[in-house]
This record gives sequence, C-alpha cells and structure tokens, in this order.
Amino acid sequence: MLISATMSSTLYSIRMRASRCGEHISGAERIVRCEELDALSAVLTRRALAHPKGEPDDIRITIETVDPAAIVHLPLPDITTVVVADVASGRLAARQELLRAGVSATAVEQTMAALGSGCAMRGAMLVDAQSGARLEPDPLRGVRVSRMDLTAAAAAELHALLSPRGLDNPHVREALVLAAKVRATPGFVAELCWSDDPDYSAGYVSSPQRGYVRFPWLKPLGDPRGGRAFFVDCRHFDLAAALEWLERTPVLCDRVSAIHPDESPTT
Ligand code: COA
Ligand code: AMP
Repeated sequence: MLISATMSSTLYSIRMRASRCGEHISGAERIVRCEELDALSAVLTRRALAHPKGEPDDIRITIETVDPAAIVHLPLPDITTVVVADVASGRLAARQELLRAGVSATAVEQTMAALGSGCAMRGAMLVDAQSGARLEPDPLRGVRVSRMDLTAAAAAELHALLSPRGLDNPHVREALVLAAKVRATPGFVAELCWSDDPDYSAGYVSSPQRGYVRFPWLKPLGDPRGGRAFFVDCRHFDLAAALEWLERTPVLCDRVSAIHPDESPTT
C-alpha cells in the first residue's frame, strides 16, 4: 500500500494483553502506522472483551514506536494440512513430522508430555532438539515472541489464499506470522504448538523443510491445556542472540508462500 505524503511514515508496535485475577486470557499485536492506532485500539479492546476464556478484569494496550531501520522483512512459511480424524492420530502425525525435521525421539516424547501436562507457561519452551534439555532462562515463563506483523499487501494476499480453504481465522494468520519469525532463528530445527483456547483443536509443526504443517486435531475441544516449543540445534544456537531476536526485533512478513494440497498422515 502506498503511504500518502501527508501521512506519517512512523511505525508503532501496538500490543494488547487481557487477564482476569492475574490469569492471562488473551493477547494480540500489530505493527501499524500512526493513522491506524485509533481504530486498532478499539479492535483490540473488543477482541479482549470477547474471548472464549471469559471476560477480563484488566486490559493493557501498549504502543511504542518501532525503529524502521531495525525492521526485518521475512516470507511466510508454506502451508500444508495433514488431515487427521482425531487427537490420537494428530499427535502421532505431529510426532512423525518432528522426527522428520530432525528432532530426536527423546526430545519429542519429553516435550509432548510436558505440553500435554497442563502446566501453563507464559511463553514457549526452548528445547535442545537432540537431548530434549530445556534452554530458556525461566522455565515457567518460556520465551515470548513479539513485535511482528504482516504488511498490508501480504495481509490481503494471505486473506485471498486462506479464505477458499476456510482457514482465514486469527489463529492461523497469527501463528503463521509467529512461525515465520521463529524459523528465522539461527539453529532453528522445528516448532510444535497447540492452542490453549478451548474452542480450537488444531495445532501445527513448523520446520525449514516443510513450512507450517497443520493438524486439525491436536487436542480435544473444551480442553484449555495448550503450549508451544521451539526445538534448536545447540551447535548453531546462541541463547542471548535468539532471545533478542524473538522477543525484541521487529519483523514484518511481506511475502506469502504456497498452500499445498491436503495430505493424509503417513504410517
Ligand atoms: N501468557 C501468560 N502471561 C502473559 C502472556 C501469555 N501469553 N503474555 C503476557 N503475559 C503477562 C506476563 O505476566 C508478562 O510478564 P513476564 O514477561 O514476566 O512473563 C506480562 O504479561 C507482560 O508481558 P509482555 O510480553 O511484556 O507484554 P506486552 O504487552 O509487551 O505484549 C503480548 C503482550 C501478549 C501481545 C505479547 O507477549 C505476545 O504474546 N504477542 C504475540 C501475540 C500473538 O500473535 N499471539 C498469537 C500466537 S499464535
Ligand atoms: P495460543 O496459540 O495463543 O493459544 O498459545 C498457545 C501456547 O503458546 C500458550 O499456552 C503459550 O504457552 C504459548 N505462547 C502464547 N503466546 C506466545 C508467544 N507470543 N510466543 C511464544 N509462545 C507463546
């Protein structure tokens, strides 16, 4: 989209988080121009008030300028759906996808057990893809990826790509942006996620070889237990640099990749 000469070209990171009695309910963020802040504050407030996890008693909106020179532009990952019929086959297919990406069987089993345990984290686990050891400084908090969005042109392209497949929802759009940033981390091997939103049963594995591979069932509907894990190759991984990249560096995804035909799980 062309920015008119009368409009400011300053960009802002706008972030919303909603909680009740100190418990996190929802969060969302965008990177936008000054002119969009007003309307977007209202959109994010409405979103905070309408979450399936219930009504918040605290809504925070944070707005900060973003240094345009610091913005990194990235493509979104390719998208594939592996059509699984239930949670058991979804988890099995996700395991296979992680093994295929180069995560060891030990790391897969340990991480999936931790994800299903219901021990809610405030971010993602950072896991050594070989040993399964946890690498993040605070294992209760985890690593929280932030400061990311799509350009307006990429958002329109993504809408056109996802709509005919019935996939144009905030879960898929936002997970794609997050996965694009995470997979650009040096040493990245794979990501595993299923949502803690009780109304959303799908999850995904992202990897450099296959992109974003979604499974319609990785947990039962009604289950509020979710989580996320980033698997890394410690030989090529620098923890401090990765935290700075994932949590602080602004990213705009400006290219949409392909949607591949649906797949059946391999046995
Ligand atoms: N779960 C639990 N607590 C959370 C949380 C989460 N997902 N996100 C924020 N909080 C709470 C924590 O107490 C946190 O303190 P901590 O850093 O000690 O954990 C506190 O809020 C402040 O978090 P911070 O990240 O500094 O707030 P922020 O206002 O800058 O950004 C979010 C908040 C939620 C927008 C941002 O962290 C985020 O997750 N962005 C990605 C949103 C997104 O696209 N999600 C979709 C992924 S599929
Ligand atoms: P969600 O897809 O938003 O339901 O989140 C699923 C899980 O991912 C949560 O339980 C958190 O553990 C983790 N998570 C949520 N937001 C982030 C983030 N911004 N960065 C990393 N992990 C996150």
